[in-house]
Amino acid sequence: QSPVTQTAAAAVPTLPDAQTVTSVRHYTDRLFAFRVTRPQSLRFRSGEFVMIGLMGDNGRPLLRAYSIASPSWDDELEFYSIKVQDGPLTSKLQHIQPGDQIILRPKPVGTLVHDALTPGKRLWFFATGTGFAPFASLLRDPETYERYDDVIVTHTCRDVAELTYGRELVESLAEDPLIGEFVGDKLRYYPTTTREESPKMGRITTLLKDGTVFKDLGIDGISPETDRAMVCGSMALNTDLKEILEGFGLREGANSDPAEYVVEKAFVG
Ligand code: A2P
Repeated sequence: QSPVTQTAAAAVPTLPDAQTVTSVRHYTDRLFAFRVTRPQSLRFRSGEFVMIGLMGDNGRPLLRAYSIASPSWDDELEFYSIKVQDGPLTSKLQHIQPGDQIILRPKPVGTLVHDALTPGKRLWFFATGTGFAPFASLLRDPETYERYDDVIVTHTCRDVAELTYGRELVESLAEDPLIGEFVGDKLRYYPTTTREESPKMGRITTLLKDGTVFKDLGIDGISPETDRAMVCGSMALNTDLKEILEGFGLREGANSDPAEYVVEKAFVG
């Protein structure tokens, strides 16, 4: 090797478990999504999360749990993130550009997986904010439509702009060459906002408790015989929805002990 090439090679910083950013899209001043290269050996189940991050100022990796938003058949990995101006990780992560490197520990885990639910007829995805991410993966997984007759995804955000990532993803499914025919007419999308006028306003918890959701969708309710659910949002949302689902007679499942619903906290901050 010539001395010139050696210098060039040495100039590229190599992080442990580095992956390269391939695209970034900002949705609002609080939300963005990005895609990175996928380690060739990485296998994951739709709905799982991995630890990702950047090198901190102290020279140690600064990592957080992020749901993989892309489906398992995708060549790249997609993530959907909040931007917190004084958040240790997201204050920096929000500035990544294509070509930059991030750290990605290739050990996927999580409970929002099909294996943690017993068979049912109707599957509910309840998301708030960036809690939509694991469902962005599951909605693009053929298995979701092979296992269930009906799939309902609810997404509650503060304002209409915050619904964009989820809405565009849902709208893209029907035309998707890989997944479109699996989806067919099985999927229903139920977006709501809490702080800006939109066709459906209110927290999903309120709309479930007063029966609005069921009236709007023309279904009788949620029952442990037919319904399965996955929940991903803030701690408060998760706690409130658990109580509602338990009230309908659903029990919480896990990988080791599948049941009728599963919950995972969306990454915040
Ligand atoms: P709200 O505007 O009434 O707080 P955030 O952006 O703060 O993560 O919130 C995302 C969405 O989740 C907001 O629309 C918020 O409604 C809603 N939300 C927050 N906490 C709960 C909860 N405990 N139950 C239902 N919805 C919630």
